[in-house]
Amino acid sequence: MGGVMQVHDRPGTRRNARRRMAACAAFLALALASALAPAAGAVPAVVNAMVPSAANPLPGLDPAGDPANLSVLVNKSRPLNPATYAPADLVNARGSGQYLRAEAAAWLNGLFQGAADAGTGGLAAVSGYRSYAQQQQVYSSYVNLYGQAQADLISARPGYSEHQTGLAVDVGNANGSCGLSTCFGDTAAGIWVAANAHKYGFIVRYPNGYTNITGYSYEPWHLRYVGLDLATDMKRRGFATLEQYFSGNPSVYASITSGADLVAADPSGRLLRYPALPSGGYGVPVQIGSNWTGLKQAFVVDWDSDGVYDLLAQWNNGTLGLFKGWPGGAFSTQIVVGTGDWDAMTITVGKWSSNQGYPGVVGYFPDGGLRYYPNTSGRALTYRVDIGTGWAGLGLTMADWDADGANDILATTASGLLLNYPGNGVGGFKGLPGSIGSGWGTMKALVPSFGLSGPGTRSITAQTVDGFLVDYGLGTGVWGSQRQVGNGWGSMTLFK
Ligand code: DAL
Ligand code: ZN
Repeated sequence: MGGVMQVHDRPGTRRNARRRMAACAAFLALALASALAPAAGAVPAVVNAMVPSAANPLPGLDPAGDPANLSVLVNKSRPLNPATYAPADLVNARGSGQYLRAEAAAWLNGLFQGAADAGTGGLAAVSGYRSYAQQQQVYSSYVNLYGQAQADLISARPGYSEHQTGLAVDVGNANGSCGLSTCFGDTAAGIWVAANAHKYGFIVRYPNGYTNITGYSYEPWHLRYVGLDLATDMKRRGFATLEQYFSGNPSVYASITSGADLVAADPSGRLLRYPALPSGGYGVPVQIGSNWTGLKQAFVVDWDSDGVYDLLAQWNNGTLGLFKGWPGGAFSTQIVVGTGDWDAMTITVGKWSSNQGYPGVVGYFPDGGLRYYPNTSGRALTYRVDIGTGWAGLGLTMADWDADGANDILATTASGLLLNYPGNGVGGFKGLPGSIGSGWGTMKALVPSFGLSGPGTRSITAQTVDGFLVDYGLGTGVWGSQRQVGNGWGSMTLFK
């Protein structure tokens, strides 16, 4: 086989080489069994590295449709039913002349007390229950003022407003400053409300940056009572909107929603997401970006561990760039996380050390020195650690082959072997490298995949030089089943 490689603290590769040869022979028959298939060798493992930490934290819930239910979901696609619903237990909230359902009004007392006690200057109730007819007036007046498109961003149509449930209240500063203006969110009271409303069963229903999901502009003043349990659970799990909460996935509206989706750039630079289907293949691609030419390699990774997939681009110009995925879809402009000679590096990306809460980069320069670049902030890389020598010429894929919860490095050699270098979970290696397959020289890219064959499944999706996609299931230190999942992919740049 090709060059000798070493890992720090793991000298002496002769014995390992013999092990590899034996493994090769053992899997030769398998390799011959399929023209497409590099031999699937021994042992797979558990990989969570590229799964956003908060993805799918709870199953999707069927949102309540009954307008009298305290957790009812009302939005542009879910009107009140019946459209003219009126609550039965409205009370004059705090004697303000604004009405709310009794339970919401009772908890609003606590909220107002909390805001006052915190020294914010206190709150006022500006608008509570609005009937269908009143909402009709509100909406029409906005249409007259701003036109329908703008009105639809700031006002619900009659029959579609949370105000009609008696569970929503617009609040403002007691002194009236920043009333129904976004600047309310920057006042002491607005800041306190955003941080504490859940303790009283309320949520800020239209947060900043979620217009794609809620359908409405940022309204720091619009509070919705959902009850203490739901409000607290949303906060704890990091769900910003009711829509995301009920879908069970904070990133369900993001451009990349699943670790099983395949992301690829075509020769014209269109960035495409191929959604994984329950049947195990891919659906019709969705374009999620353009001008993605000039890539050496790119990665799908939750770089800032916020539960939404981001993109890491290794450009031919030497820049390493982050494109942060937004929960409501699309990506940020490039955030440079590395400059210099990144085009000269061969890298893999994922959680390499449990000492960092974020995934990092492992790779080598042409000198073959393997480096670990920890990601300590979810933003730019700041330093490196040398962790090996003799890696020149190898292809690198981070995956937890041995299912011990720590990622390993799967390395393809010039002769087509696939070697497993077991990671120790804290930035280095443990144990002996071993061969887990042969015939991998025909692979152009290896993409770790999560959930393609059902919830919890893990695999390596391989792009052959002939343009086939073959998915190799990962078990617990052994390969699972393999199957072809695509063809005609020869000209595509697959994101790893
Ligand atoms: N301003 C909110 C969207 C409403 O009209 O209900
Ligand atoms: Zn409102």
